[in-house]
Amino acid sequence: MTFRARHLLGIEPLHPTEITELLDTAQRYAELNRHGRAPRDVLAGLTQINMFFENSTRTQASFEIAGKRLGADVMNMAMQASSLKKGETLIDTALTLNAMRPDLLVVRHPNSGAVDLLAQKVNCAVLNAGDGRHEHPTQALLDALTIRRAKGRLHRLSIAICGDIAHSRVARSNIMLLGKMENRIRLIAPPTLMPSGVAEFGVEVFDDMEEGLKDVDVVMMLRLQKERMDGGFIPSEREYFHRYGLDAAKLAHAKPDAIVMHPGPMNRGVEIDGTIADDINRSVIQEQVEMGVAVRMAAMDLLARNMRAARDQTGVMA
Ligand code: NCD
Repeated sequence: MTFRARHLLGIEPLHPTEITELLDTAQRYAELNRHGRAPRDVLAGLTQINMFFENSTRTQASFEIAGKRLGADVMNMAMQASSLKKGETLIDTALTLNAMRPDLLVVRHPNSGAVDLLAQKVNCAVLNAGDGRHEHPTQALLDALTIRRAKGRLHRLSIAICGDIAHSRVARSNIMLLGKMENRIRLIAPPTLMPSGVAEFGVEVFDDMEEGLKDVDVVMMLRLQKERMDGGFIPSEREYFHRYGLDAAKLAHAKPDAIVMHPGPMNRGVEIDGTIADDINRSVIQEQVEMGVAVRMAAMDLLARNMRAARDQTGVMA
C-alpha cells in the first residue's frame, strides 16, 4: 500500500507502509537539503496557502520553506487580520480561498476536527498543521524520521512520552504512529495530565519519571499547554519541574544512549532542564527542526503527485 490519499489530516488513517513511504521520501529530501540540491520543479506552478489560526513559529516557517524549496508559490494568510475577525465563519473563509484555486492548503486551528471539516469543503489538498488536541501528523512524522536516523530503526524501541499528554496533539499523533510501527510506548505524566481512556492506546502508564524512564531508548518531552488548561492542573511550575522536569538525574534512568526530544516551543526549567536540551550528545531537538522541513517537502510532494494523477484521470489539466 502506497500513500494515495488526497489530504494529510492525521496519522490515524495511515497504514505502516504509507508511513514508511513518507519517511523514505523525507529522508531523500533531508540529504538533498544538506547539499543544497532540492529540486525546484516538484511543486512548480502550484499555489500553497498557509492558514494558521493559532500561533506557530517552527511549523509555519518550515511549511513555508518546504514549499519554496520545491518551487511552489507560497502565501501566508495573516489570519489575525482576516475577515474571521469580522465574523466570517471558518467555512466561508475556506470557500473564499478555494475560489482562488490553491493547490495545497496548510491549516492550523485551535478546534479539534476543524481541519477535517474544512477539507470536505475544498477541492485542493489539505495538510493538517495541528488541530486542537486532535492530531499533528507532520510533527509525528518528523519525530519518527529523527528517531529512525538516530537509532537506525523505527520498531521495537522503548519510547517514553512525558508531560502534558492530556492536551497534546503531538502526543496523540505520536502514540498512533509509534504504535503502528510496533514500538513499546510509555506515557509518563501526573494523573491530572493523563488523558482518560488511555488504556485503549495499548501503552504503559506511569506517574513517576524514574520508573517510567527505566531503560528507554527515546525520551520525548512535551510542553505544558497552558493555553488549553482552564484550571489548576499542577501545584506550581517549580513543583512540576521537580517531579516531571527532565534533568540529568532523571535521564540517568534511561539507556546510556537514549536520545532526548522536544517538539518546541520549550519551557526551560519547567518540563526540561536547559543543559539537557542543549547537550548535543543527547538532544536531537535541532535535528527535529531540520527533519520538519524534509517531512513537509515529502508530504506536499506526495500529495501533489496524487492530485496530478487524479486530475489526469478526470481529464482536467494539472
Ligand atoms: C506543538 C504544537 O503546536 O502542537 N508545537 C509544534 O508544532 N512544534 C507543541 C506545542 O505547542 O507544545
